[in-house]
This record gives sequence, structure tokens and C-alpha cells, in this order.
Amino acid sequence: MRKRLTEIVCCPNCKQELILKHEKTQGEEIVEGKLECMSCHHAYEIFEGVPRIILDLKKRKEIANRYGFEWAKRVEDSFESDTLYGKSEEEELDYFFSSFGIQPSDLNGKSVLDAGCGCGRLTRMLGPYCNEVVGMDIAASINSVYDHCKCQNNIHILQADILKLPFRTNYFDFVWSSGVISYTGSSDEAFQSLSSLVKPHGKLFVRVFSNSNLTAAERLKKIFWFSHKVPKEALFYLCYLLAIPWSITKYLFDKRHKSLKTNAFHLFDTLAHPFTRHSEEEVKSWFKREGFSVIMSRDEGGVSVSGIKE
Ligand SMILES: C[S@@+](CC[C@H](N)C(=O)[O-])C[C@H]1O[C@@H](n2cnc3c(N)ncnc32)[C@H](O)[C@@H]1O
Ligand SMILES: [Zn+2]
Repeated sequence: MRKRLTEIVCCPNCKQELILKHEKTQGEEIVEGKLECMSCHHAYEIFEGVPRIILDLKKRKEIANRYGFEWAKRVEDSFESDTLYGKSEEEELDYFFSSFGIQPSDLNGKSVLDAGCGCGRLTRMLGPYCNEVVGMDIAASINSVYDHCKCQNNIHILQADILKLPFRTNYFDFVWSSGVISYTGSSDEAFQSLSSLVKPHGKLFVRVFSNSNLTAAERLKKIFWFSHKVPKEALFYLCYLLAIPWSITKYLFDKRHKSLKTNAFHLFDTLAHPFTRHSEEEVKSWFKREGFSVIMSRDEGGVSVSGIKE
């Protein structure tokens, strides 16, 4: 963590300033220490270079561990690795720019939040375009995102909960959250908390699971509705077993060739965690309620909507 982050974050409990204490540094990096709230006196630990600005990690332990396991498998090359959710790096960047309706140069001097940054691929790619990028996620694998990004000193990484965000109101020019709020059990509340971080005239993007256009893996999850209760190690092997007939069927019927690793990742990602679904109309109504005009919306196996704050 770099000192500059203290000007961006605040206490998730009372939204007051956090003061840095007892730090151990390595060059400009604060590798250990505490962030303490002067108002409610909550203290948040910094370890292995990452601030953990979470009120109650126990509540989110399951998702933090299961996603931590999933991203660690990707880092060790046991899951989809050349692409991510079927997209190459260029495709993911294009998707970011087209969803906001902007050009790369529009990010000059701007601050971006990648809320639920996963393995941090997009966070790292955005670094060269922006003034500042913040990547946050609840997953236990956040350390590897930090290692992946720390060579760019305008990128900040932290572990936090999207339902109790530790950022100043109206701070960011762009807030991006792809495939995250559906896992919170309170998507509407998570949306509200994200929308409060966007500056007036700033932009917000969210993607959630669709309740109409189900992917084949999501249909499978409807049958194995209890799959998120299966121990993660067993589910990992089970997904590899399922990925064999899955890959053959996809190849024969769709003529789409995806590697076994990619299909196993896709199955695990869908089966390992519980999530909620929403319609395009519902998500658009959240934007309108929070004072945003909708720029773009689509439902293509997921509902994606972006808006501009009035
Ligand atoms: C489907 S992945 C998407 C990752 C990334 N946005 C992408 O598109 O590659 C969902 C991510 O949401 C994170 N997540 C789930 N619940 C969260 C919460 N309450 N707070 C922060 N992150 C959360 C998970 O840890 C996981 O990394
Ligand atoms: Zn506080």
C-alpha cells in the first residue's frame, strides 16, 4: 500500500478519516501496519502490503475463501489463463471502453474503481491510461493481485466488502463492477453503495446475472442447486470431469473450441458460489432511482448497464 491511499479511503463503519499507524515500509510501500479511525476507533490491518478495510470478514468468509481458491488455481495455470471469461486482454479493454462509450484518452487524469477486481487483470491494464486506479475485492487471493500490480505506482489494491465500501462519497470518475454484486445477497444495496462513490457527471457500470438469458452452465446450476455447498477441492475435480463431455458437446454442436481448462473454469465459476439474478428493467430502475441516466444496456447471458450521474 502507498500513503496516497489514505486520501482515498475512509472508515467503512462511520465514513470518517483513517490514520496510518505503526507501519513497516519497504521503499514507498507500506507492508505492515494499521489504519485507525479517529472517530469510531475501529482499526484495520495492513499485511503483506494490502490494507484489509473490512468490518466483519467472518460474514464473507465463504465467498472470500472459495474465490480465493479459484483465482489461486488460475494463477498456478490450472484454470483458463490465456483468456478470462472467454475474453483476451484486448477484448476486455474494448469491452470496458465501449460499455462506457469512451476512448482511452477520456481516462487521462481520471480515477477509476474496479469493484470486485477478481484476479486484477483489468485493474492492471487500466493503470497506464488513468491518473489513479483502485482495485478492491473480498477474495483471499487479493495478495496476488497486489503482487501483479505493485510495479505501477498509480494502482492501489485493497481487500474490502462491496456492501461496506471504504471510500469517500463522490470520489471516482468511473466505477466498474462486472459480475460482482450478484454474489452479495443484496444486489440493490451493493448497487446503492457503488453509486454513491461516483462523482457528478461520472459513470457507473454494473453487470449482473440475467434472469432470462441463462447460459448452459447456469441451467446446470439450476439442477445442481446445492453445488456451492460441495467442498471446493472436490468441486474442482468434478468440474474437470464434467468439462470433458462438456467440451466435446460444445465442439460438436456449437463448433466452438475452448480448452478443457477454460470450460472447467467456467463450470467452477458458475457452480461454486450462490448468486441472484436480475432483469435488465430492474437494473435500469436502480440507475434511475440513484439519479443516473442510462447510457447503454444489454442482456446477453448477463445484464450489463452503464449510466452517467446527473
Ligand atoms: C465473477 S468474479 C468477477 C471478477 C472481475 N470483476 C472480472 O470480471 O473478471 C466475482 C468477484 O466478486 C468478488 N466478490 C464477491 N462478493 C464480494 C463482496 N461482497 N465484496 C467484494 N468483492 C466481492 C469475488 O471475490 C470475485 O473476485
Ligand atoms: Zn469509523
